[in-house]
Amino acid sequence: MKLGVNIDHVATLRQARRGVEPEPVLAALVCEAAGADSIVVHLREDRRHIREQDLFLLKKAIRTRLNLEMSVSKEIVGIACEARPGQATLVPEKRQELTTEGGLDVTGNFKRIQRAMESLEKNGIGVSLFIDPDKRQIRAAKELGAKMLELHTGRFAEAKTMKLQDGFFRQIREAARFAKAEGFKVFAGHGLNYDNVARIAGIREIEELNIGYSIICRALFAGLGRAVREMRELIGD
Ligand code: PXP
Repeated sequence: MKLGVNIDHVATLRQARRGVEPEPVLAALVCEAAGADSIVVHLREDRRHIREQDLFLLKKAIRTRLNLEMSVSKEIVGIACEARPGQATLVPEKRQELTTEGGLDVTGNFKRIQRAMESLEKNGIGVSLFIDPDKRQIRAAKELGAKMLELHTGRFAEAKTMKLQDGFFRQIREAARFAKAEGFKVFAGHGLNYDNVARIAGIREIEELNIGYSIICRALFAGLGRAVREMRELIGD
C-alpha cells in the first residue's frame, strides 16, 4: 500500500503569519525521506494554504509524484496545466467548507469535468476523480474515460458508532472491488488517522492512501517537546 502525504496544513501554519515558515518544500522532503510515495497539496480557489508558487517549487524539489488536488475551475485548471504535476485529483470545492466535504458529483457535472480532464491530459497530467464510494459515480467516471479514482473515506472516519462505521466500511470495500474490476487504479483518503487507518489499509483493491491532517497533528506532538528543550537551551537558566 502506498502513502501519499498531504502537506496543506504546513502551509496553513505559514499563512497564519503570512510569513516564510514553515516551508512546505522542506516538509515534502522530510515526508519523502520518511517513506512517502507521493506529496499531495490542494491549491484552493481562496489560497488559504498552498499558493501557486508552492506548486512550482514542489514540482522542482521533490523526487516522488506531486498529486495536486484541485477544483475544475478554469483558473485552477490553467495553473495546473502550467505547473504540470504528475497527477491531478479533481475534487468539489466550496468556499465556506473547512475541508472537502463530499465526493465529486460526476453525473451532475459531466461536461465541466470532461473539459478539465481533457485540458489536463493534453498536458500529460494523469487525472484521478475524488468520489463517494458509490457505483453510480464509478460508472459515470468510466463513461468519462477516467483511469484513476480516489474513494472518499470521510464518512467512515467520522462515524459516531461502530455499527455506522461498519456500514461505511462495507460501502468503501464494495466500491473499491467494483472500481478495480472495472479497470480503475483505486486510491482512498480523507479523515484517516492512526486509529482508523488499519481497516482501510486492509482493502486489497486500494493502491494508495492519501493522508494529511492526522499526520501533521501527530508531527506537532512528536516534535513539541524537543522544540521546547532547544529553546530552553538557547535561553539558558
Ligand atoms: N484526499 C482528498 C481528495 C482530500 O481532499 C483530502 C483533504 O485535503 C485528503 C485526501 C486528506 O484528508 P485528511 O487531511 O483528512 O487526511
